[in-house]
Amino acid sequence: MMSAELKRRRIGLLTGGGDAPGLNGIIESVVRALSGQGIEVVGIQDGFEGIFENRHLLLTRDRVLGSHAQAGTLLGTSNKSGTRGRESEFHEKLSALNLDGLIAAGGDGTFAGLQKVAQGLKLIGVPKTIDNDLEGTDVTFGYDTACAVVSESIDALRATADAHRRVLVVEAMGRTAGWIALGGGLAAYADAILIPERPFSRDALREFLLQKKGEGRRGLMIVASEGVAAEGESASVAFKVAGSPQAERFGGFSERLARWIEEEVDWESRHVVLGHLQRSRPPTTTDRFLTLAMGIEVANMVLEDDWNKAVVYRQGRVQRAPIGDIMKPARLVKPDHRWVKMAQMLGIFI
Ligand code: F6P
Repeated sequence: MMSAELKRRRIGLLTGGGDAPGLNGIIESVVRALSGQGIEVVGIQDGFEGIFENRHLLLTRDRVLGSHAQAGTLLGTSNKSGTRGRESEFHEKLSALNLDGLIAAGGDGTFAGLQKVAQGLKLIGVPKTIDNDLEGTDVTFGYDTACAVVSESIDALRATADAHRRVLVVEAMGRTAGWIALGGGLAAYADAILIPERPFSRDALREFLLQKKGEGRRGLMIVASEGVAAEGESASVAFKVAGSPQAERFGGFSERLARWIEEEVDWESRHVVLGHLQRSRPPTTTDRFLTLAMGIEVANMVLEDDWNKAVVYRQGRVQRAPIGDIMKPARLVKPDHRWVKMAQMLGIFI
């Protein structure tokens, strides 16, 4: 039998919630850094489901090599499997894995689920969402890639909008936060950016569109967050996902806005929902570098036995923070955020 000193350390790694470009970068950097130090990394498959159903695999250096460039997560994920009501089962199954600690890359739902069952569990949290709406970190990985999809799409669609004299309404993800529409819309110099944090006035939008039409504009580009609503109205909830920590799925706003524009402004209009294209794409260089740096920090935390913290990005560098910092309510765009002011300076309707 191995003596306590010689016992190989065994760490678990799971990805939970919706996928985000960069998850594979976290996996590759953590595994490469830790396997070089003789630490075994066990990948738990499909988020919490892998714990309940005992699905896991040994993550070797060879297994992860090159995965940083791929979209998705090679471990699989789920944004449906909670731990509620199954706490003791979760605890038993996790204990049976004989892990010295667990690294979890996820959103607030993943950490909230883990906290309920985490007594005695050594945990490192890696904040993740394309929505960029987690408190405690200045930016989340996957956000830059999502913005790239939005800005490239707006730039591309401008041609058909101009060709047909149409208003194109591009719907971006983000739930209750407007970061993706704002970042992607600014990068593409969209004509109008509609975000949930700034309910818009229908009268003001009508006036803006009529003015642009009067100026002889052929096409016009609007980017709208899926969770936006006009003043006094509610966001468009398309359906609910049972078991998901944030059950509502938003959708339908851009299509209705396109019809409204045709009726109110007499300007032909079409809508494009970018949907999961914003998530399912290889990470940008910025997201690759961020996940590489976060993964290395996580590995250092494991090597130093520094648990029950999160790895975050603040003031231009990766840092460690209390795990509770990333579990606060969503970090929304402040209505007078400097990016909003930049948009206004450019004459963008926001
Ligand atoms: O939170 C990330 C996100 O991509 C949101 O922007 C979007 O509303 C939601 O997940 C979509 O979830 P699902 O993958 O269940 O369709």
